[in-house]
Amino acid sequence: MRLGIIAGSGAADFLPGGQTIALAAGPWGETSGPVRQVGIGGHEVLLMSRHGEPGARAIAPHAVNYRANVWAFRELGVDHLLGINTVGGISAGFACGALVLPDQLIDYSWGRAHSYSGTAAFPLQHVDFTTPFCLRLRDLLLGAARRVGVELKSAGTYGVTQGPRLETAAEIDRMERDGCDLVGMTAMPEAGLARELDVSYAICCVVVNQAAGRAPAGVGIHAEIAANLRAGLDQAERLVTAFTEADLHAT
Ligand code: HPA
Repeated sequence: MRLGIIAGSGAADFLPGGQTIALAAGPWGETSGPVRQVGIGGHEVLLMSRHGEPGARAIAPHAVNYRANVWAFRELGVDHLLGINTVGGISAGFACGALVLPDQLIDYSWGRAHSYSGTAAFPLQHVDFTTPFCLRLRDLLLGAARRVGVELKSAGTYGVTQGPRLETAAEIDRMERDGCDLVGMTAMPEAGLARELDVSYAICCVVVNQAAGRAPAGVGIHAEIAANLRAGLDQAERLVTAFTEADLHAT
């Protein structure tokens, strides 16, 4: 199996090691960076850092070339593509440190190059996006989590904001009324583009802070993120390792 991973904030050293492979610019331009190839249990994992390489100027969520990134993974022939996303928790039950496999999303982002459709190579298509994440991949990840005892929430709605600023308390209140459990800035257009290319795609979210207006007075979002990031990513790493080590003949 060949698994692609697009790792978000703080995840540049996700599953460290391996060999770096440069990617030539494709029809949609430059990717966020090279991929790093890591072998786990006889399977191949190809990782890309969504916000660019460590040491380079970080690419803001609205400026990520999602089309180039997803295209590159399709060209690399991955069987599945997994996003690792740090998020804020909105509703009760999505506390800091939680690992979540969202099953739904609401897109509040705007102005991003969000489709391949309408170009000469890609005639207009209205892809079915009723279930935005691959059900088979979600099942495999949930099975892996159960096997190794990683606590993984099996559902949740991810609201995608434009960033890079964080939200106002009123924006988060509105998102909660809309049904969002989590807030982040990067699940779209990544998920929609993967669906356009028929790539099996899901995201694993690490809750690193309480969304704006949800934390007790005096608790700063950035301090929360710093406190929760590493442990959350360690759990996500355990999950990915269990997933790749599993017998996945039926991918
Ligand atoms: N809002 C948006 N994106 C985020 C947050 C947040 O609170 N935390 C991590 N990514």
